[in-house]
Amino acid sequence: MPTLLYVNACVKREIPSRTNRLAQAYLKKHLETSSWTLQTVTLEEEDLTPLTGKGLAEREDSIRKGDFSGETFRLARSFAAADEVVIAAPYWDMSFPALLKLYIEHLCVNRLTFCYGDTGRPQGLVHVKKLVYVTTSGGPIGAANFGFDYVKGICSTLFGITDISFFSAEGLDIDGHDPEAILAQAIDRITADADAQDSSPRPA
Ligand SMILES: Cc1cc2nc3c(=O)[nH]c(=O)nc-3n(C[C@H](O)[C@H](O)[C@H](O)COP(=O)(O)O)c2cc1C
Repeated sequence: MPTLLYVNACVKREIPSRTNRLAQAYLKKHLETSSWTLQTVTLEEEDLTPLTGKGLAEREDSIRKGDFSGETFRLARSFAAADEVVIAAPYWDMSFPALLKLYIEHLCVNRLTFCYGDTGRPQGLVHVKKLVYVTTSGGPIGAANFGFDYVKGICSTLFGITDISFFSAEGLDIDGHDPEAILAQAIDRITADADAQDSSPRPA
């Protein structure tokens, strides 16, 4: 059965995450119209640490041996094996929470999620065919979509994912705005997309 990987990069706060709500609407619609298996990675519950010199040396040693069975590679393995990935990350400081950068650092493993071809250009090794990026923001995002642009760059250039889409609910914290109404409209857009897509297994 194809796997839908949900990467929850939302940070738990007093108000339940609105970004997670938007992403959950997509997952619900996707899963009720398909027989896909849902796998969730909640970044706040992962013990994510940045790569240090020691960690990097150990990782490079494993890569040299071609041994990707260790815990260090668990997140990269599950990402590489998924058919579709949904990333939910609130718009923070014009990009996303640092947790997501740590996750991406864990994904970028030479010879597991990508490799370098003869010309030195990266080539994707992941199975993922589609990636959906979901965010919400306090103000307008406009051209300052640095978080999504970065994720898109990594996922297309390094991992070779070509079908990448972006959904947002913006301006939720602006005085006089109705955040519930804005979210409801965004939920309509994202569920329409989940409905429209062909949920049958995508060829490798
Ligand atoms: C640490 C932090 C940084 C934020 N940075 C921005 C920002 O740069 N621009 C913006 O429009 N909103 C910003 N916001 C507002 C959030 O994007 C907004 O409240 C969002 O809906 C939060 O998502 P959540 O409910 O999933 O946590 C920030 C909020 C926090 C807590």
